[in-house]
Amino acid sequence: MFRPRRLRKNEMIRSMVRENHLSVKDFIYPLFVEEGENVRKEIATMPGIFRYSLDQLDAELKEIVELGIPSIMLFGIPKHKDDVGSESWNDEAVVQTTIRYIKKNYPQLYVIADVCFCEYTSHGHCGILVPSVGAKDGMDVDNDQTLNNLQKQSLSMAKAGADLLAPSGMMDGMIATMRDALDLNNFSDIPIMSYAVKYASAFYGPFRDAADSTPSLGDRKTYQMDPANRIEALKEAALDVAEGADILMVKPALSYLDIIRELKDTHDLPLAAYNVSGEYAMIIAATQNGWIDGEKVMMEKLISMKRAGADIILTYHAKEAARLL
Ligand code: PBG
Repeated sequence: MFRPRRLRKNEMIRSMVRENHLSVKDFIYPLFVEEGENVRKEIATMPGIFRYSLDQLDAELKEIVELGIPSIMLFGIPKHKDDVGSESWNDEAVVQTTIRYIKKNYPQLYVIADVCFCEYTSHGHCGILVPSVGAKDGMDVDNDQTLNNLQKQSLSMAKAGADLLAPSGMMDGMIATMRDALDLNNFSDIPIMSYAVKYASAFYGPFRDAADSTPSLGDRKTYQMDPANRIEALKEAALDVAEGADILMVKPALSYLDIIRELKDTHDLPLAAYNVSGEYAMIIAATQNGWIDGEKVMMEKLISMKRAGADIILTYHAKEAARLL
């Protein structure tokens, strides 16, 4: 009889035959930076995660470096929002300033800029809102006008010194548009990590509190994907590969492990999984209630993303997981 249990007898043999491994090098840690001074505010829906102003960021950055986390992803919370999100391409805005500061003082950190508008627009959408007959609340995001601004934001982030750009707005043609702008302006060496497959997900709820980016009308279903769809995910990924994406991302992670596996099997690009705010919040809430062993559930969840095929994991658990690894 073949007995698979022979190879599970003790931890020594289990670790020898283990197929997948988590490493702190897999992690990207998202950071929220708010314009202003003396801000160190815990996000109510994401215990353990803070919004910082730049003057309060050092302790956090030191900790990240000490834990060996190689990379951070920056989200900005500006004071000034308008219809088009113009603060997002202001060279002196909060994210640009923060990138310059980090690249100067923490050169060992690989700095990723989220490229999107929802934190910068007064209406909270990921682009320019225009009247649209038949759309919810009569308004929708105009794809091609948004692409124009995406070029401006990308160049501003690149000029500030971002190592990599990650567009999260799910606009058609966003990768080709950004690639063009970067290449024409001497930034051909900056890679793009595309949020290629981003679902219109309720798991983003806590993030929208964190980033003040809840849409004031309509919803994101005209640009983010329907959670029911799989073939469309393959199409989205193939388009971004053709447009020149360097890394693909699937978001959220946990409910979409099948999609992660399929993209990994279909494309030869590195693949990232975004373990989003709602996935984080559920674990923290259940842990605080004493309902689950939070550390074990967290590690099990993270290894499941690796097993599904993710090379890179964006996670709010990065610091905690790094401590355990
Ligand atoms: C915005 C953006 C969102 C997240 C990252 N970038 C939210 C959204 O689309 O509403 C979500 C991240 C998370 O939930 O952790 N473009």
